[in-house]
Amino acid sequence: MKKIITKCLFPAAGYGTRFLPATKAMPKEMLPVLNKPLIQYGVEEALDAGCHCMAIVTGRGKRAIEDHFDISYELEHQIQGTDKEAYLKDVRSIMESCTFSYTRQKEMLGLGHAILTGETLVGNEPFAVILADDLCVSEQDGVLAQMVGLYKKYQKSIVAIQEVAMSEVDKYGVISGREIEEGIYEVDFMVEKPSMNEAPSNLAVIGRYILTPDIFDILRETKPGKKGEIQITDALLKQAQNKGVLAYKFKGKRYDCGSIDGFIQATNALYNKLKD
Ligand code: G1P
Repeated sequence: MKKIITKCLFPAAGYGTRFLPATKAMPKEMLPVLNKPLIQYGVEEALDAGCHCMAIVTGRGKRAIEDHFDISYELEHQIQGTDKEAYLKDVRSIMESCTFSYTRQKEMLGLGHAILTGETLVGNEPFAVILADDLCVSEQDGVLAQMVGLYKKYQKSIVAIQEVAMSEVDKYGVISGREIEEGIYEVDFMVEKPSMNEAPSNLAVIGRYILTPDIFDILRETKPGKKGEIQITDALLKQAQNKGVLAYKFKGKRYDCGSIDGFIQATNALYNKLKD
């Protein structure tokens, strides 16, 4: 039986050190682009892709995320019946449309470890992963919706990719593979943050994944890799060796909102769109 994707995992335990001091006491996922925190963009993208269960892997100091997707009695009582309520319309509608579950990653042992920590929320089914600091915008379907469409056809793990300059490959997971349809590759190799010389291509993975649930068993066996962390890239390589991974050149634009440059670009782009 074909399984559909209903759950989206958000690894959100990281410290956000590239944004210190802003992230000293505030989760990086709560940084606002215009008036909306990054994680809300991610949740909207997941909803747009048909996911109604948001599974969030948090850590210490991340309670603001839970509070954001909950009722704030005092505030809501205060503005009840005023035009200010309009500002809460979107987040209220999100809260009505999906469920949120949380678990804590106690130690920062890497993205692979964060995803494995989320197993308890996801169970034995294929699921999506969104890294909220990669903000994706597109004219038509959201990036995750595009990937869910592809999953329906292939039933394999999928990573979203984009071409980057060779001087940038050491910031990403990088793939190589055979193009089986325009913009769709069957992955045969992938490596986490390679040097320019080691990189098999300039096709870089961005923070959108669809994973089949066998990834959890693989992650349990995955040894620490780059930076001593358990890497999702290494676990995906295992799946790729069995032809289990596709890479998809998504339609749209991704902003690295974990960096000041990307964050400012995203802010400007969304602001300009608002003013159009
Ligand atoms: C993570 C992944 C990397 C991927 C990147 C996308 O790295 O480990 O493979 O390319 O996200 O944003 P991070 O940016 O968390 O160091």
